[in-house]
Amino acid sequence: MSKNLSPIDTAKFVAAKRACDYVESGMRVGLGTGSTAAWLVRCLGEMVQGDGLDIVGVPTSTRTAELARQVGIKITSLDEAKWLDVTIDGTDEFDGELNLIKGGGGALLQEKIVATASDRMIVIADKTKQVETLGAFPLPVEVVPFGWQTTKALIEETLSSLDVLGDTSSLRMNNDTPFITDEGNFIIDLHLGRIGNARQFGMVVNQIPGVVENGLFIDICDVVIIGHGDGRVEVKDINTGTTEQDVIDFVDTENLFSDLAD
Ligand code: 5RP
Repeated sequence: MSKNLSPIDTAKFVAAKRACDYVESGMRVGLGTGSTAAWLVRCLGEMVQGDGLDIVGVPTSTRTAELARQVGIKITSLDEAKWLDVTIDGTDEFDGELNLIKGGGGALLQEKIVATASDRMIVIADKTKQVETLGAFPLPVEVVPFGWQTTKALIEETLSSLDVLGDTSSLRMNNDTPFITDEGNFIIDLHLGRIGNARQFGMVVNQIPGVVENGLFIDICDVVIIGHGDGRVEVKDINTGTTEQDVIDFVDTENLFSDLAD
């Protein structure tokens, strides 16, 4: 039973819970960022504390590192771990080929580095994240603060030659000041509406001086686990081309609901 979780939180929770099946003792696990990934971290913490799961986590943000510590997961840096068995993270959008837009929480750079350094990336999401074509969610682009206005102008100029609908961008703010990433950079959100060729788009944008990385994850994700508000999950595996259905049992999850703050 799901205590008083909303349907959307139930969907996030069941996706996270199902993703735990991919984690075994001895693994080095990339820990994503965001509200869905926070459920994953809580579920893994429960397994560490209650079932003796022995893993080392590599967090993708300071927020996730803090939560992992709170729930008792051992953490280390990517440089220390070197290579990971699996990374589990949320997403802002995913399409039929399991390509993603990430970075709504501002952690795209570390998330991309960590996911790319993993044998397998598993994405956990509620159904609202599924799209036909990427681009309705504003595409985050991490840029260095130096000359950011010039970088922004160059990005906008480049948009006219690419297969996208929109051509505006905005500097992400945190109240009255620019949002600063964990790496000390800014984020420019691109309002594209639709990205016709995401692979090409990502490569072109990354060529612009001042751009550090963009939030398109192309050919990185292996599995998407889609949670539903009634406890059902769908598991889509791009490598096997299969989709499995499952239902998550809420028994023995009492402790997870005692602290619902993200
Ligand atoms: C953070 C991310 C998140 O995974 C993405 O924004 C999804 O977040 P949520 O699970 O809260 O919807 O990319 O940079």
